[in-house]
Amino acid sequence: MVLTGGVGGGVRRRHPVSDRWVRWIAKPIVFLGCLAPLAWLGWLAFSGGLGANPIEAAVRSLGDWGLRFLLLSLAITPAARSLNLPVLMRFRRMLGLFAFFYVCLHLLAYVGLDQFFDWTAVWDDIVKRTYITVGMAAFLLLLPLAATSTKGMIKRLGSNRWKRLHALVYPAAILACLHYIMMVKADLRAPLVYAGILMLLLGWRIGAALRRRGVPLLRRGPRPLRGSA
Ligand code: HEM
Repeated sequence: MVLTGGVGGGVRRRHPVSDRWVRWIAKPIVFLGCLAPLAWLGWLAFSGGLGANPIEAAVRSLGDWGLRFLLLSLAITPAARSLNLPVLMRFRRMLGLFAFFYVCLHLLAYVGLDQFFDWTAVWDDIVKRTYITVGMAAFLLLLPLAATSTKGMIKRLGSNRWKRLHALVYPAAILACLHYIMMVKADLRAPLVYAGILMLLLGWRIGAALRRRGVPLLRRGPRPLRGSA
């Protein structure tokens, strides 16, 4: 689903927003907003604000933003449908691609700054440290999504195949949360908050799919017979 925004609207139009406004005002603002965490991180690195272990802080911050954008991109469809704001769908691809962008920087910072491009050490880490193996699996699942995020690829694959392929974003997000949970040694609160948000988004998705198939979700119990105690 998520890395591109061309397919799978299903949101009824209530507030027709001018295409020009979205394209020339809202999108550039969101784009700059998505770059703000990177600019802030750059500023902290430049001003010595990253603490005693700046490399670890940079790798972690980039990982955090990768996960945040991944969850944000997953939240777009539920938000657009629940708030009846179809215009939100126009931002889904951008948020998904920013998730991929931050995850790439996270990986690059780890390989370059943490491991100094020592590929043997990187490979050893991937094989021996389970949380890195899981992070790598999440990254590999995101690759085909990023590669097929253009309108041309949606056309080429066809809407149904494209949607099926983009459902990979859910296992990728589950693995990313698992990667974080496994990495943390003591305080699990932050990774569990992300995992909780993901569970809510997944629950919404499953509910929507069941509703589409006509499965009644909140089945009421049989009414008590009149006069019965
Ligand atoms: C979808 C892909 C990924 C996501 C969303 C992700 C996200 C995260 C998050 C949220 C953290 C914890 C940050 C914190 O403590 O605040 C983290 C840590 C880390 N990740 Fe990833 N990650 C991904 C893939 C990878 C990959 C492919 C690698 C390396 C091969 C990797 C290496 C690391 C390392 C080494 C840390 C710990 C940093 C440290 O404590 O020094 N991650 N990641």
